[in-house]
Amino acid sequence: MKILVTGGTGFVGKVVVERLLARGHSIRVLARGTRPAPGGTCETVQGSILRPESLPAACREVDAVVHLVGIISEVGDQTFERVHTEGTRNMLHAAQLAGIRRFIHMSALGTRPEAVARYHRSKWEAEVAVRASGLDWTIFRPSLIYGPGDGFVGLFARMAEWSPVLPVIGTGQSRVQPVAVEDVGHCFASAPTTPASVGRTFDLCGPRSYPFDRVIRMILEATGRHRGVVHLPLPIARLQARILESVFPRILDQAPPLNRDQIQMLEEDNVGDPVPASEVFGFVPRSFEDGLARLFGRA
Ligand SMILES: NC(=O)c1ccc[n+]([C@@H]2O[C@H](COP(=O)([O-])OP(=O)(O)OC[C@H]3O[C@@H](n4cnc5c(N)ncnc54)[C@H](OP(=O)(O)O)[C@@H]3O)[C@@H](O)[C@H]2O)c1
Repeated sequence: MKILVTGGTGFVGKVVVERLLARGHSIRVLARGTRPAPGGTCETVQGSILRPESLPAACREVDAVVHLVGIISEVGDQTFERVHTEGTRNMLHAAQLAGIRRFIHMSALGTRPEAVARYHRSKWEAEVAVRASGLDWTIFRPSLIYGPGDGFVGLFARMAEWSPVLPVIGTGQSRVQPVAVEDVGHCFASAPTTPASVGRTFDLCGPRSYPFDRVIRMILEATGRHRGVVHLPLPIARLQARILESVFPRILDQAPPLNRDQIQMLEEDNVGDPVPASEVFGFVPRSFEDGLARLFGRA
């Protein structure tokens, strides 16, 4: 199949593209040109999901769209509402105009209409648009995704190299169910040719959930470093995030390293049911212990 991948230059996107290529699909990546596009046999089309006029060229002669674009932090016109909701609507419209039937969409666990976090609410609005599109859609909702080049396990592992302590926001008791990026890649790469996944929404998560505090300690164990864990009280974390949110975009034109939406999401459980995806896409989700051992070369 000829498949258009949006977000193909990102952490998850690179793995999805690799997996799709391995299955013999022909891949076109929509890229803004801010990061290197995946190499190999991929075709790249310059564009942004916020510029609808750039999308028809990307959609030409395509059989399926894998829509991965998302942001965790806002900067300039890249707001959650614009990128997640408006951007997805733009992509759906472009797919409809081009006569593309298959649409595979990246959402997130915790996405719901009454969510406090704007990340989750804007992802919900995107899901609503996908379900109403009349296309042959599949929606995936991952928990925390980890793997080479991620922005979470990697971040804490790097911090452990120089910092005597690692910070945990709040009590660290909310639960998360980390999923390996290889498993996410497997599902996205299988979906275009899995008719049983049409019209369905799948959680993507590992076999077990852990309190956030435990996740940090597991990362430390996997890296072989002995470091303390300090709990940052929520009001202090929120104040810090508020300052970073105003300083980073305005002065550095960069997304802040921490924002209040992320803090809100860290306070909520982020858990799901891995069984439906593993049954439909025929795989056994990797345990976090195994994934960490592989990541840090201890398996
Ligand atoms: N990582 C996780 O733990 C996690 C968990 C649940 C859900 N998700 C979702 O998974 C998706 C991928 O996440 P990720 O971790 O791979 O993020 P990432 O590394 O930051 O990648 C984001 C991708 O989106 C692209 N992008 C951003 N704005 C765009 C725009 N206006 N037009 C076109 N492309 C644009 C980026 O392209 P450029 O190269 O142009 O910047 C990049 O390829 C997101 O939808 C995210 O919400 C991630």
